[in-house]
Amino acid sequence: MTAPRPTSAFHAANTDPSVTDRLIAALDVQAANHGVRRLRAWAHASLAARPGERALDVGAGTGSETQVLAAAVGADGADGTAVGLEPHAGLRAVAEQRAADEGSRARFLDGDARALPLPDADVDLVWCERVLQHLTEPDRAVAEMARVLRPGGRIVLLDTDWATFVLHPAAPEIRPALAAVTQGTAATPDAGRRLAGWLTGAGLAVDAHGCDVLLHDARSVSRPIVRGIGAAAVGRGLITEEQRDRLYADLEAAAEQNAFHLSVTMFAVAAHRPS
Ligand SMILES: C[S@@+](CC[C@H](N)C(=O)[O-])C[C@H]1O[C@@H](n2cnc3c(N)ncnc32)[C@H](O)[C@@H]1O
Repeated sequence: MTAPRPTSAFHAANTDPSVTDRLIAALDVQAANHGVRRLRAWAHASLAARPGERALDVGAGTGSETQVLAAAVGADGADGTAVGLEPHAGLRAVAEQRAADEGSRARFLDGDARALPLPDADVDLVWCERVLQHLTEPDRAVAEMARVLRPGGRIVLLDTDWATFVLHPAAPEIRPALAAVTQGTAATPDAGRRLAGWLTGAGLAVDAHGCDVLLHDARSVSRPIVRGIGAAAVGRGLITEEQRDRLYADLEAAAEQNAFHLSVTMFAVAAHRPS
């Protein structure tokens, strides 16, 4: 089995506590983003979890969406189950703690999306958000999700497409370097556009497409993102230090005038396993 590319921070081998804290902080910031909230709302409405169903959240992270699924399948006192599969021990511990703190019935399990530790046709629902972009074999993971889904069961995949990353203002001559960096940090950076193909390739029937934009505020989230991109572009010899400093200065000046823009598009596809 091929491991996720080490360039992706989200892989189980990254157990350094400071990295784990950074991943948790990033997931929490994203969870508060209006675009993520809107697309999640669309995806939950499309999945339409019902009381008593069995749900699986693949690559659960901090478990926020496993908890949403747990509330839906456990509504009205029903004994539905929601399990979050999470291979990263630090993230899994946070997910377990948060679920306990909030009195959620969500449970968490170690495992790999490419070899799910579940029998065939075991669950009614699968949720998989921003995981496939981190895998070198995303189609294999989707085939696994199809395998554990019962006939008639529903699935929703959500993922980013890094070719849609826009940072403004950036001088035209450095834009290819910025694109190379943003598309080089994930194992499968074009996951967003490939979701429907992976689902149909796994024998599932596509029902609906959704999308939304993560628009980042100039002052808070964007600064570390921009600094990270600038540092990586210089580190890879794609731009000079002078070009990097000019980029930072242009972005700061734009932020002063409310003329800053940083965005990336997320896509979601809902499907079901034909009976
Ligand atoms: C960007 S985070 C998304 C977390 C969560 N789904 C969310 O949207 O908030 C990517 C997640 O994929 C998980 N992941 C990475 N490789 C995986 C694999 N091979 N199998 C399952 N999950 C994996 C990471 O540990 C991390 O929790």
